[in-house]
Order: sequence, then structure tokens, then C-alpha cells
Amino acid sequence: VNHASSEKVAIVTGSARGIGRATAERLAADGHSVAIVDLDAVAAEAAAAEIRATGATAHGYAADVSDEDAVSELFESVVRDLGAPTILVNNAGIIRDNLLFKMSVDDWDSVMGVHLRGMFLMSRAAQSHMVEQRWGRIVNISSSSALGNRGQANYAAAKAGVQGFTKTLALELGPFGITANAVAPGFIETDMNRAVAERLGVDWDDYRKEFASTIPVRRGGSPEDVAHAVAFFAGPDTGFISGQILYVAGGPLA
Ligand SMILES: NC(=O)c1ccc[n+]([C@@H]2O[C@H](COP(=O)([O-])OP(=O)(O)OC[C@H]3O[C@@H](n4cnc5c(N)ncnc54)[C@H](O)[C@@H]3O)[C@@H](O)[C@H]2O)c1
Repeated sequence: VNHASSEKVAIVTGSARGIGRATAERLAADGHSVAIVDLDAVAAEAAAAEIRATGATAHGYAADVSDEDAVSELFESVVRDLGAPTILVNNAGIIRDNLLFKMSVDDWDSVMGVHLRGMFLMSRAAQSHMVEQRWGRIVNISSSSALGNRGQANYAAAKAGVQGFTKTLALELGPFGITANAVAPGFIETDMNRAVAERLGVDWDDYRKEFASTIPVRRGGSPEDVAHAVAFFAGPDTGFISGQILYVAGGPLA
């Protein structure tokens, strides 16, 4: 049930933790009902329960965004529990870093599967509700790695693909009152980067300080820094901004 007010139903993928979670919290604080979607049902429900404790409406759902059947079931559940979703944040993501000569087909396919196949399946399922309501906001999470990053041929290709996908949705869906934009974060202090430091055998605090020294504003980004940019694109006043890529990186590049 979508109301005439500015309160909408928002789906945020990969929102049990990190950037997705901060985004779900921010959209809930902005008055939207939020569907927390993640691989792990328990973690998704725990994140939703914390949002409900603030007085907002949130539900947790387990789904793999790269699984076609799981995505259709997810949309049935969200429509039943919360109403027609008209805000979609495609945030779920993984990394499988390796230099090209060591990159396996599985490293390649799994990264493409979550970022590109997942974004396609979720956006295709969401657009019918948005077209029906003649209003929608799709915000896709790209990355500064889209510009090229050593050891991330798979991830860089996927995150550049996200940008082409976003611009095409802006062209196709604009006539229905739907905007599509991308947020491209630089270095953000989340579990994803903690795992990188761990894999490299570097202390997390040393790793993030080293990174911060290369960033013009001299700090790493927080999940809230990204959530703020997503909330801007998801909001009621940005209907004339579409097909844009906003780098949230503490400088022109991270
Ligand atoms: N952390 C950074 O520096 C950074 C920079 C640029 C872009 N990003 C992008 O931002 C997004 C969020 O990153 P993060 O740092 O918060 O990561 P994170 O690893 O902390 O969280 C990602 C979440 O996505 C979920 N997820 C993974 N695969 C999924 C799937 N198939 N279906 C549903 N959920 C799935 C995970 O379970 C996890 O909860 C990702 O798309 C990432 O590529 C992150």
C-alpha cells in the first residue's frame, strides 16, 4: 500500500551490515518502510528489529539476489508485508580479488552474479511496481574501482557495468517518473575492507590510517557517508536528476 505522502516502501539489498545497513537505517529515519534483504535470515531480521526499535517499519528477508526464483519470492513477500516497493537500493556485493593470471572462473562468475545479475533481477522485478505507481527511485552502488583497480579485474568490470546499467535504466524508465542513479564509494570502513586487511596480514588500524593518508580529506569513509548520498537520490526532490554517477570518496578519486 503506497500512501499519497512521501513515505515509500524501500528495498535495500545486502543490508544486514555495512553500507546497506546504514542506508536502510537512514531511509527508515526519513520515514520509509524498509525491507532488509541479505543472504542470512537471522542477520537480516536482527537489523530489521533494531530499526523497528526506533519506531520505524522494517522487515528482514533472506534472499540471494542472483537467484531468479528467490528474487520473485522476495517481491511477493515484500508486497504482502509492506506494500509496493518504489525505492530500490542495489547494494549487495562481494569481492573475489586476484591478479588476472590467478583469477579463477569462479572468482569472475560469482562477482558478476551478485553485482550485475543481482542488480538486473532486482531492478526488473521492482520496475513493474514503480511503473504502476508512476514513481520510483533506483539507486545502484558502484565503486571507485570502476575506474580500474589492480587485483580487481572482475570487480572493476562489474562496477563499471553498474554505471552503464544505471544510465540505461534512466533512459528507459524516465518516462514513468522513475529515476536511476549510482553512488560510487571510495574507501569505506566496513567488514569488506577489514577482510582485505586480514587477508593481507595487516593490522586494520594501520591499514585504514595508511589508506586515509592517500585520501584528500584525510579519512576513510563511513557507511553513513554513503547512506547520505543514497538518501539524496531516493528522496522526493530529486526527480530531475537521473543517470548520474556520484563519487563519494573524499576527493575526486579515492
Ligand atoms: N567498503 C568499501 O570500501 C566499498 C567501496 C565501494 C563500493 N562498495 C560496495 O558497497 C556495497 C556494500 O559494501 P560493504 O562494504 O557494506 O560490504 P559488506 O561485505 O560489509 O556487506 C555486504 C552485504 O551484502 C550481502 N550479500 C552478499 N552477497 C549477497 C547476495 N548474493 N544476496 C544478498 N545479499 C548479499 C552480504 O551478506 C553482506 O551483508 C557493495 O556493493 C560493495 O561492492 C564498498
